[in-house]
Amino acid sequence: MKINNICCIGAGYVGGPTMAVIAKKNPNIKVTIVDINELRIAAWNDNDLSKLPIYEPGLAEIVKDTRNKNLFFSTEINKAIQESEMIFISVNTPTKTYGKGKGMAADLKYVELCARNIAEIATTNKIVVEKSTLPVRTAGAIKSILHNTGNDVNFDILSNPEFLAEGTAIEDLLNPDRVLIGGDSEKAINCLAGIYSSWVPQNKILKTNVWSSELSKLTANAFLAQRISSINAMSELCELTGANIEEVSKAIGMDSRIGAKFLKSSVGFGGSCFQKDILNLVYIARSYNLNEVADYWEQVIIMNNHQKRRFSDRLIKTLYNTVSGKKIGMLGWAFKKDTNDTRESAAIYVADHLLNEQAMISVYDPKVSCSKMQSDLNYLGNRTEEENHKGLTTCVDSPYEALNDAHAVAIMTEWDEFKSYDWKKIYKNMKKPAFIFDGRNLLDKSEMNKIGFEYYSIGK
Ligand code: UDX
Ligand code: ADP
Repeated sequence: MKINNICCIGAGYVGGPTMAVIAKKNPNIKVTIVDINELRIAAWNDNDLSKLPIYEPGLAEIVKDTRNKNLFFSTEINKAIQESEMIFISVNTPTKTYGKGKGMAADLKYVELCARNIAEIATTNKIVVEKSTLPVRTAGAIKSILHNTGNDVNFDILSNPEFLAEGTAIEDLLNPDRVLIGGDSEKAINCLAGIYSSWVPQNKILKTNVWSSELSKLTANAFLAQRISSINAMSELCELTGANIEEVSKAIGMDSRIGAKFLKSSVGFGGSCFQKDILNLVYIARSYNLNEVADYWEQVIIMNNHQKRRFSDRLIKTLYNTVSGKKIGMLGWAFKKDTNDTRESAAIYVADHLLNEQAMISVYDPKVSCSKMQSDLNYLGNRTEEENHKGLTTCVDSPYEALNDAHAVAIMTEWDEFKSYDWKKIYKNMKKPAFIFDGRNLLDKSEMNKIGFEYYSIGK
């Protein structure tokens, strides 16, 4: 089958950048990204590229080059399904917030709706590619829906998990370590491989069965998150023994069997994937009665929750056991630098804990809006919207304003710009003693001490 038209359902952090790169590298293929969210599609079509719904270095340039040439953003889902030979499903698959598997299993309702939509509309053969992170055996469910409710057309289902990390998505897409394609039909696999081979060397395109592909994605994320929880566990020990976590990370990272990446101790990992995927893995393992397997992976999450909690506990304890009525300035709300995504960000949980202790929080993030911060707190459901609004009154456009008169600064995201702030000026305008709690080990302790700050970092 020759692919002339691709449709991608879901214009989010995965669908947007991935399709932009596919369009850029395959100028002869028309790529249409559709979404039910009209505002999001309007933002993707905005002439002002700074208004794209996703901030990702290098993305705006690619969208500028391809948009309305062979890359289109639309809400006309049915039309795009009909026109295309290949359909990517990249809708969100959040952790369930209700019913069986609440707080653990992935909510597949959006994926199922997509599959039903495709089945209803398609009158020609399609290759359907699952791109969202999904529990193992989801492809089977999609297949069953398509074949049982479709119009007697042939559907080939492929699993093609995305390994891009936010903040480096474009770079990761342009130079992937590997592209993984799982499926039963060699013809369909080769069709998709053909699209990637426009820029990815053949030896980096792996072909597996569907379930290996699905499970590889969960396994990769579980391994990466496990490294962070492992180093974070050591950071607590370092703080008590006088060892330095950065020296330990460097020392073990130089062992080529261990490797240097993902050994940065922090206030805890966030993002849309790690927690969700591990919870998924735990849920699947328990459903097969593999309790030891489930407990083993669950510990990665337990450690991460502990790391976030430990950070806010230490802040409160150091501020003489009370933050009630005190202004705490937070730098960063995104779950990592170079993204405007805040899903599962440690900042949300630390802010929530501090608000429970009646602190007044003032946040500055270079790419996250005040309304997003508010809605993240509201989503936790621990306080009324008014209470959150009262506690988080001054999330502002200027970092200096956010930290003015604060008792403490909490660094939550490792944005580069935080390093070059005028820390002398910040010190001058803070309450004394002025504390810094550096959740990303971003600043230099001796420099901060010289200015006059009491400086606390992780694992030192
Ligand atoms: C992750 C996977 O890396 C990616 O392959 C997958 O497709 C999606 O999930 P992402 O969540 O975008 O990507 O970002 P990642 O760079 O993995 O960071 C996740 C979290 O871990 C962030 O909060 C980050 O700050 C934290 N982290 C990462 C650490 O605390 N220490 C590290 O050494 C690395
Ligand atoms: P991800 O990080 O997985 O890309 P996002 O939440 O950023 O997740 O993006 C998923 C997108 O999928 C959202 O913009 C959402 O509106 C869209 N979406 C969810 N369900 C459907 C559906 N049935 N049809 C079209 N778009 C959908």
